[in-house]
Amino acid sequence: MTAIVELRHLSKSFGTTVALDGLSLAIPEGSVVGLLGPNGAGKTTLINCLTTLLRPDSGSATIAGHDLLTEPDKVRAHIAVTGQFAAIDETLTGRENLVFFGRLLRLGKDEAKDRAGGLLERFGLSAEADKPVKTYSGGMRRKLDLAASLVVPRPVLFLDEPTTGLDPVSRETLWDTVRDLRSTGVTILLTTQYLEEADQLADRIVVIDHGKVVAEGTAQELKDRVGGGAVCEIRIADPGVREKAMAVLGRSAEGEDGPIVLPAEGVEALAGIVKTLEAAKIEPDDLALRKPTLDDVFRSLTGRPE
Ligand SMILES: Nc1ncnc2c1ncn2[C@@H]1O[C@H](COP(=O)(O)OP(=O)(O)OP(=O)(O)O)[C@@H](O)[C@H]1O
Ligand SMILES: [Mg+2]
Repeated sequence: MTAIVELRHLSKSFGTTVALDGLSLAIPEGSVVGLLGPNGAGKTTLINCLTTLLRPDSGSATIAGHDLLTEPDKVRAHIAVTGQFAAIDETLTGRENLVFFGRLLRLGKDEAKDRAGGLLERFGLSAEADKPVKTYSGGMRRKLDLAASLVVPRPVLFLDEPTTGLDPVSRETLWDTVRDLRSTGVTILLTTQYLEEADQLADRIVVIDHGKVVAEGTAQELKDRVGGGAVCEIRIADPGVREKAMAVLGRSAEGEDGPIVLPAEGVEALAGIVKTLEAAKIEPDDLALRKPTLDDVFRSLTGRPE
């Protein structure tokens, strides 16, 4: 499979803050890549660089074979983006916003109106379509913003936290939209704070921290890294006791709160954990065996909860 988005050693600093630290990545055409990382990891900076809104300090990238730095117009013709913060006009109605985007992107009047109507319906905004955006709720704005990035289909779509602030039904709508787009061959790079979302949608997951890739793979591959079959989750409310448990279990990468999670494949592994706790006279508030989730991956890679 050929890479439609390819970046090599991309770096970007803001003063002394290194937001992207020599990041390299290849995204195969037609795939959905989930970009995960804690707050401040560099996700938005990466999307801003790839969408020509920010100029990287060094490194290079191509999108659909066009160089980001020397052919930005050609790059722009291949991409659509929904940023982390809404880019819609407050004083216009939802419909006017979408028609406006369509016209900006050179659609004919009727076509722009048709596309706008179709997208408003798809995102459940028909009833509010003719009210000014300033009367919309946060979630309604988010949906309109997403619709705006779909007015003219483009081969590469960047979505920065597309479902933050959406209710569960709207989130499902967005997920279906992403799946539909993927089935038509669109390549999608999406960032998210919801690991379940990456699990549901992404063919590959890239975890970044401090502007660098710290892990990459399918959701299953990443889960296998924390514990192929199962993990044991131990909850201890008392911070002192929790710390003692971490020490005897040899856990150092855990965050400051939340459960202690460790690989526990097979009864023997679990028995070993219980014995260790017993020997140290530690009585956990709760101890459970379960399948690993992406949250576990995230915690073990970055030392903090997403
Ligand atoms: N315009 C800017 N000026 C100065 N520093 C910036 C600017 N934009 C981003 N940064 C810094 O760069 C780093 C990466 O920020 P970025 O917005 O890319 O993170 P993020 O992964 O998108 O985080 P979040 O999950 O909170 O959206 C942070 O340390 C941030 O403070
Ligand atoms: Mg961000």
